[in-house]
Amino acid sequence: MNEKTMKNIAAQSCEAFAGKLPAESGGKTLENRPEKADGSSCAAAENDRLQRIWEHPLFQESLLATERLERERIFCGHDRNHLLDVARIAYIENLETGTTVPKYLIYAAALLHDIGRHLQYTKGIPHHEASAQLAAEILPECGFSQEDTRRILDAILSHRDKAAAFAEGLSGMIYRADKRSRCCFACPAEPECDWSREKKNLTLTV
Ligand SMILES: [Fe+2]
Ligand SMILES: [Fe+2]
Repeated sequence: MNEKTMKNIAAQSCEAFAGKLPAESGGKTLENRPEKADGSSCAAAENDRLQRIWEHPLFQESLLATERLERERIFCGHDRNHLLDVARIAYIENLETGTTVPKYLIYAAALLHDIGRHLQYTKGIPHHEASAQLAAEILPECGFSQEDTRRILDAILSHRDKAAAFAEGLSGMIYRADKRSRCCFACPAEPECDWSREKKNLTLTV
Protein backbone atom coordinates (compact mmCIF):
# COMPACT_ATOMS: atom_id res chain seq x y z
CA MET A 1 0.00 0.00 0.00
CA ASN A 2 1.53 3.30 -0.98
CA GLU A 3 1.73 6.33 1.28
CA LYS A 4 -1.01 8.23 -0.58
CA THR A 5 -3.49 5.34 -0.20
CA MET A 6 -2.70 5.01 3.52
CA LYS A 7 -3.26 8.73 4.02
CA ASN A 8 -6.61 8.52 2.22
CA ILE A 9 -7.78 5.61 4.40
CA ALA A 10 -6.76 7.44 7.58
CA ALA A 11 -8.51 10.60 6.41
CA GLN A 12 -11.72 8.74 5.52
CA SER A 13 -11.87 6.83 8.82
CA CYS A 14 -11.38 10.05 10.76
CA GLU A 15 -14.13 11.82 8.86
CA ALA A 16 -16.48 8.89 9.37
CA PHE A 17 -15.58 8.86 13.06
CA ALA A 18 -15.67 12.54 13.85
CA GLY A 19 -17.77 14.17 11.16
CA LYS A 20 -17.03 17.65 9.91
CA LEU A 21 -16.45 20.14 12.63
CA PRO A 22 -18.71 23.19 12.38
CA ALA A 23 -17.38 26.65 11.64
CA GLU A 24 -17.47 27.77 15.29
CA SER A 25 -14.53 25.45 16.03
CA GLY A 26 -12.30 28.40 15.26
CA GLY A 27 -11.10 27.06 11.93
CA LYS A 28 -9.70 23.85 13.44
CA THR A 29 -11.36 21.59 10.89
CA LEU A 30 -10.40 18.08 9.89
CA GLU A 31 -9.63 19.45 6.46
CA ASN A 32 -6.83 21.75 7.58
CA ARG A 33 -5.41 19.44 10.25
CA PRO A 34 -2.38 17.37 9.24
CA GLU A 35 -3.46 13.80 8.60
CA LYS A 36 -1.14 10.87 9.17
CA ALA A 37 -1.48 7.25 8.11
CA ASP A 38 -0.98 6.08 11.72
CA GLY A 39 -4.36 7.58 12.68
CA SER A 40 -2.91 10.42 14.77
CA SER A 41 -5.38 12.83 13.15
CA CYS A 42 -8.18 10.77 14.80
CA ALA A 43 -6.63 11.45 18.18
CA ALA A 44 -6.43 15.11 17.23
CA ALA A 45 -10.15 15.09 16.32
CA GLU A 46 -10.98 13.59 19.74
CA ASN A 47 -8.84 16.17 21.48
CA ASP A 48 -10.54 18.92 19.52
CA ARG A 49 -13.92 17.83 20.78
CA LEU A 50 -12.71 17.73 24.39
CA GLN A 51 -11.10 21.13 23.98
CA ARG A 52 -14.39 22.46 22.63
CA ILE A 53 -16.14 21.24 25.79
CA TRP A 54 -13.49 23.01 27.85
CA GLU A 55 -13.91 26.26 25.90
CA HIS A 56 -17.71 26.10 25.69
CA PRO A 57 -19.19 29.21 27.37
CA LEU A 58 -21.72 27.15 29.33
CA PHE A 59 -18.95 24.90 30.62
CA GLN A 60 -16.68 27.79 31.59
CA GLU A 61 -19.47 29.82 33.22
CA SER A 62 -20.63 26.80 35.20
CA LEU A 63 -17.14 25.78 36.28
CA LEU A 64 -16.32 29.29 37.49
CA ALA A 65 -19.68 29.59 39.28
CA THR A 66 -19.07 26.33 41.16
CA GLU A 67 -15.49 27.27 42.03
CA ARG A 68 -16.68 30.66 43.30
CA LEU A 69 -19.44 29.12 45.42
CA GLU A 70 -17.07 26.54 46.91
CA ARG A 71 -14.34 28.97 47.88
CA GLU A 72 -15.10 28.60 51.60
CA ARG A 73 -16.26 24.97 51.44
CA ILE A 74 -14.38 22.65 53.81
CA PHE A 75 -15.63 19.44 52.20
CA CYS A 76 -14.73 17.97 48.80
CA GLY A 77 -14.78 20.44 45.95
CA HIS A 78 -16.01 20.02 42.41
CA ASP A 79 -13.42 22.18 40.71
CA ARG A 80 -11.34 21.63 37.57
CA ASN A 81 -8.87 19.40 39.45
CA HIS A 82 -11.66 17.08 40.57
CA LEU A 83 -13.03 16.79 37.03
CA LEU A 84 -9.61 15.87 35.66
CA ASP A 85 -8.87 13.50 38.58
CA VAL A 86 -12.04 11.58 37.76
CA ALA A 87 -11.10 11.41 34.07
CA ARG A 88 -7.62 10.08 34.80
CA ILE A 89 -8.70 7.56 37.45
CA ALA A 90 -11.48 6.24 35.21
CA TYR A 91 -9.04 5.91 32.32
CA ILE A 92 -6.58 4.02 34.54
CA GLU A 93 -9.37 1.54 35.36
CA ASN A 94 -10.13 1.27 31.66
CA LEU A 95 -6.50 0.32 30.99
CA GLU A 96 -6.06 -1.96 33.99
CA THR A 97 -9.22 -3.96 33.33
CA GLY A 98 -8.79 -4.13 29.57
CA THR A 99 -12.10 -2.34 29.08
CA THR A 100 -12.33 -0.60 25.75
CA VAL A 101 -14.37 2.51 26.43
CA PRO A 102 -12.93 5.22 24.16
CA LYS A 103 -10.73 7.67 26.04
CA TYR A 104 -12.60 10.72 24.70
CA LEU A 105 -15.90 9.40 26.12
CA ILE A 106 -14.33 8.91 29.55
CA TYR A 107 -12.86 12.43 29.54
CA ALA A 108 -16.09 14.01 28.26
CA ALA A 109 -18.21 12.29 30.94
CA ALA A 110 -15.72 13.18 33.67
CA LEU A 111 -15.43 16.82 32.61
CA LEU A 112 -19.21 17.20 32.67
CA HIS A 113 -20.33 14.97 35.55
CA ASP A 114 -20.37 17.77 38.17
CA ILE A 115 -20.72 20.79 35.89
CA GLY A 116 -24.21 21.58 37.26
CA ARG A 117 -23.06 21.62 40.87
CA HIS A 118 -23.61 25.40 41.15
CA LEU A 119 -27.30 24.86 40.35
CA GLN A 120 -27.61 22.55 43.33
CA TYR A 121 -26.30 25.38 45.54
CA THR A 122 -28.38 28.16 43.98
CA LYS A 123 -31.58 26.42 42.83
CA GLY A 124 -31.68 23.14 44.74
CA ILE A 125 -31.53 21.03 41.56
CA PRO A 126 -29.79 17.69 42.26
CA HIS A 127 -26.46 18.19 40.55
CA HIS A 128 -26.47 14.96 38.51
CA GLU A 129 -29.68 16.20 36.87
CA ALA A 130 -28.40 19.75 36.42
CA SER A 131 -25.13 18.45 34.97
CA ALA A 132 -26.98 16.21 32.51
CA GLN A 133 -29.14 19.14 31.39
CA LEU A 134 -26.09 21.31 30.73
CA ALA A 135 -24.22 18.44 29.05
CA ALA A 136 -27.18 17.81 26.74
CA GLU A 137 -26.74 21.38 25.47
CA ILE A 138 -22.95 21.33 25.32
CA LEU A 139 -22.17 17.96 23.72
CA PRO A 140 -23.97 18.30 20.36
CA GLU A 141 -22.31 21.71 19.91
CA CYS A 142 -18.91 20.09 20.40
CA GLY A 143 -19.31 17.47 17.67
CA PHE A 144 -20.52 14.51 19.75
CA SER A 145 -22.89 12.09 18.03
CA GLN A 146 -26.33 11.24 19.42
CA GLU A 147 -25.07 7.85 20.59
CA ASP A 148 -22.00 9.33 22.32
CA THR A 149 -24.21 11.99 23.94
CA ARG A 150 -26.60 9.31 25.21
CA ARG A 151 -23.76 7.28 26.77
CA ILE A 152 -22.23 10.33 28.43
CA LEU A 153 -25.59 11.52 29.80
CA ASP A 154 -26.26 8.04 31.23
CA ALA A 155 -22.92 8.15 33.05
CA ILE A 156 -23.58 11.64 34.42
CA LEU A 157 -27.07 10.73 35.60
CA SER A 158 -25.88 7.59 37.40
CA HIS A 159 -22.72 8.96 39.02
CA ARG A 160 -24.48 9.21 42.40
CA ASP A 161 -26.50 6.02 42.04
CA LYS A 162 -25.21 3.12 44.15
CA ALA A 163 -26.47 0.74 41.48
CA ALA A 164 -23.61 1.98 39.27
CA ALA A 165 -20.95 0.97 41.81
CA PHE A 166 -20.46 -2.45 40.25
CA ALA A 167 -21.62 -1.63 36.73
CA GLU A 168 -19.37 -2.31 33.78
CA GLY A 169 -18.59 0.28 31.16
CA LEU A 170 -18.59 4.05 31.25
CA SER A 171 -21.21 4.59 33.99
CA GLY A 172 -19.50 2.22 36.43
CA MET A 173 -16.09 3.69 35.72
CA ILE A 174 -17.22 7.26 36.33
CA TYR A 175 -19.04 6.28 39.55
CA ARG A 176 -15.98 4.49 40.95
CA ALA A 177 -13.47 7.12 39.83
CA ASP A 178 -15.59 9.84 41.45
CA LYS A 179 -15.44 8.03 44.81
CA ARG A 180 -11.79 6.97 44.50
CA SER A 181 -10.74 10.54 43.78
CA ARG A 182 -11.52 11.60 47.36
CA CYS A 183 -8.66 11.56 49.86
CA CYS A 184 -10.79 11.08 53.02
CA PHE A 185 -7.78 9.60 54.85
CA ALA A 186 -6.00 12.96 54.57
CA CYS A 187 -8.98 15.29 54.89
CA PRO A 188 -9.27 17.47 58.01
CA ALA A 189 -13.05 17.74 57.47
CA GLU A 190 -13.55 13.94 57.35
CA PRO A 191 -15.11 13.67 60.86
CA GLU A 192 -17.79 16.20 59.87
CA CYS A 193 -18.42 14.78 56.40
CA ASP A 194 -21.77 13.03 55.99
CA TRP A 195 -20.52 10.41 53.53
CA SER A 196 -21.13 6.92 54.96
CA ARG A 197 -18.04 5.16 56.32
CA GLU A 198 -18.14 2.51 53.61
CA LYS A 199 -18.12 5.22 50.94
CA LYS A 200 -15.14 7.05 52.44
CA ASN A 201 -11.55 6.23 51.46
CA LEU A 202 -10.21 5.89 54.98
CA THR A 203 -6.93 4.31 53.93
CA LEU A 204 -4.57 4.87 51.06
CA THR A 205 -5.68 2.17 48.65
CA VAL A 206 -4.09 1.61 45.25
FE1 LIG B 1 -21.12 14.62 41.76
FE1 LIG C 1 -17.58 14.29 41.28
